[in-house]
Amino acid sequence: MKAGIIGMGFIAGSHIDAVRRLGFAEWAAAAGTGTHHELSRQKAEAHYIPRYYESVDDMLLDPEIEVVHNCTANHLHLEMNEKIIKAGKHVFSEKPLAKSVRESERLLSLLQDHPEVTHGMNFNYRMNPLVQEMKHKVRSGQIGQPRLIHGSYLQDWLLLDTDYNWRLDPEFGGDSRAIADIGSHWMDAAQVVIGGKIIEVCADLVTVWPVRKKPATAIETFAVQASASYEEKSIVTEDYGSVLFRMDNGVSGVFYVSQVSAGRKCHFNLEVNGSQASLYWNQEDADRMWMGFRDEDNRSIMRSPNRLHEQARHYSSLPSGHPEGWNDALKNNVYSFYKFVAERKSLKTEACDFATFEDGHYIMKLIEAILESHRSKGWVKV
Ligand SMILES: NC(=O)c1ccc[n+]([C@@H]2O[C@H](COP(=O)([O-])OP(=O)(O)OC[C@H]3O[C@@H](n4cnc5c(N)ncnc54)[C@H](O)[C@@H]3O)[C@@H](O)[C@H]2O)c1
Repeated sequence: MKAGIIGMGFIAGSHIDAVRRLGFAEWAAAAGTGTHHELSRQKAEAHYIPRYYESVDDMLLDPEIEVVHNCTANHLHLEMNEKIIKAGKHVFSEKPLAKSVRESERLLSLLQDHPEVTHGMNFNYRMNPLVQEMKHKVRSGQIGQPRLIHGSYLQDWLLLDTDYNWRLDPEFGGDSRAIADIGSHWMDAAQVVIGGKIIEVCADLVTVWPVRKKPATAIETFAVQASASYEEKSIVTEDYGSVLFRMDNGVSGVFYVSQVSAGRKCHFNLEVNGSQASLYWNQEDADRMWMGFRDEDNRSIMRSPNRLHEQARHYSSLPSGHPEGWNDALKNNVYSFYKFVAERKSLKTEACDFATFEDGHYIMKLIEAILESHRSKGWVKV
């Protein structure tokens, strides 16, 4: 199978690596967008991607390409996903699906006319072997009746007022930042683990820096670079957000996200409390899961393919003690998507373990409900 990629920033490197690890797919081409051609072309060359197109439309005419990855900044998700679908290519998009529910609805309606297109989203956290193990432990009754799910996703890369990225500007990132950028991952994983949908939210959002110093030159995501000249920019999106929620199967929960928590880098964690036991997993220590009991000794479970539930086992490739982590989970997501396409399955008739555009659309609805709840200072039904 041959693939193309649009957008050559931070996350593109992990997509490029993941496809190469599959063994049955390879890159045919990359395309840049807008004013970013020089950097994008250099990156495509550095990764030995055979062709670089300055025009996305031209790349989409390439008959060899079956799957296209959309790794652009959020404001281009709608436009690029629309182009890919209209070209009849399978689309694997970065999250959030679009900038608003209105935009993600447009994508779902376009897909009605293109049943041949398989659509997947990069909600990669659900693809960690121990998140899958957590899901199977919950679903098979090993913790009793699940009652509560809670956790957080904390980062520090926007801690200072001199930290800047396109995500801070609603024109490029959307009306929500921390919730849409990282809370979307948390909500996706929580729904997968519990096997239910979040249907009601009550949120409080905080903008720690109402004004930030935007450097004169753009900085790639996570890159640290001092700039001599700055422009002051008003910030209206949230640095921190906390959300109480209820799910359709009676489970209650809470999560909080922050991009200004010093020392926290990619601190994504989930805890489920059931009527008999609890489970906890933190992606910064991805090979371990904690299982807690009231009347027995608690356990620290080390990821081992031999010990995982048979339905979670294939998400793990390395023996115990050989760490698996973030890029491996992303590769699992890409693998599931490509396998589905290679086996000529249809989303209309067959289930999949990766998130589809329908899942991405539901997350967009959750994001907008959270924004509405913050504005109205009350519970909002999704
Ligand atoms: N799944 C994950 O864990 C994960 C992690 C990081 C990023 N992402 C998503 O991937 C997408 C890209 O994020 P990234 O971190 O690679 O960003 P990035 O800034 O490193 O790269 C974004 C790319 O988009 C293009 N672009 C077009 N217009 C732009 C503009 N005005 N400003 C900046 N870039 C512009 C450029 O080609 C650029 O290389 C985002 O939608 C983000 O939410 C997902």
